[in-house]
Amino acid sequence: MAEPRVLVVGSANVDLVVETSRAPAAGETLLGRRFSTHFGGKGANQAVMARLAGADVAFVACLGADAHAAQTRAELARRGVDATAITEAADVASGVAQIWVEDDGTNRIVVVPGANDRLDPDHVAATVAGDAATVVVGQLEVPQAATAAGFAAARARGATTVLNPAPAAALDDALLAATTWLVPNEGELAALAGADAGTDAVLTAFARDAGVRLLVTLGADGAALVGADGRVLRRPAPVVAAVDTTGAGDAFVGAFAARLAAGDGEEAALAAALRCAADSVTRLGAQSSFPDPERAARLIAGA
Ligand code: RIB
Repeated sequence: MAEPRVLVVGSANVDLVVETSRAPAAGETLLGRRFSTHFGGKGANQAVMARLAGADVAFVACLGADAHAAQTRAELARRGVDATAITEAADVASGVAQIWVEDDGTNRIVVVPGANDRLDPDHVAATVAGDAATVVVGQLEVPQAATAAGFAAARARGATTVLNPAPAAALDDALLAATTWLVPNEGELAALAGADAGTDAVLTAFARDAGVRLLVTLGADGAALVGADGRVLRRPAPVVAAVDTTGAGDAFVGAFAARLAAGDGEEAALAAALRCAADSVTRLGAQSSFPDPERAARLIAGA
């Protein structure tokens, strides 16, 4: 079998992280505990985790013409992610995310997309059409038209598509129509389904009506997967002490996509994704919270 290969369409940000005992109220000034800068963006995070989970990974994104762009390219190279399809926009900054992390691990994030908004649909479609990836992944931090173009090209050559509809937004019909697996968290699903997503009946009906395979992440409660037969499989998350939940959803999606590409069944891919996501919340940041390659291999193997 060919090497598993995943192509991620999505955002790259630099995360500006403030650790604080609590978030300030409106008009209030607080003294925070610590500041740090990390590589982030849902697309880049998922690409890095897919690589750690055993896939060859290509990433198509758009950066600004600034220092963050060069730093991001260098970091992706260090991580072994193929960044040759990344473009640059000359007149706008690279994406940034301002993140507050409170003592209990809760995060609050404001993303300024910058160059992420300039990702060109034609470039994405051509990149996906010319790539051998069997799994193509997207999120909602770049224009939906760009992800939809990539997904349509992927489906046209028989690849599986995985959409993480984050941050929460209504989905364009063209994007949903080209999505194989939809992987929202509870809030994102509630925004899409317009209803409490807690019951199996809601999950089954939503998956059927949307025409997708559905996998909902439930934070510390694990995940719920709607099987091809409509039955809902719920799996708990490993119990860990949470330091920072930033990027846990990305760890989940990246690992799930990589394991599908590797030929794992969906239950095995789900189990590996839950282990990677739980592990990531024990450390600060998004990519900075991901395991080193040796630990990643153990997590994937379940050892
Ligand atoms: O999912 C976590 C990510 O969301 C962060 O890395 C931040 O950049 C935002 O995109």
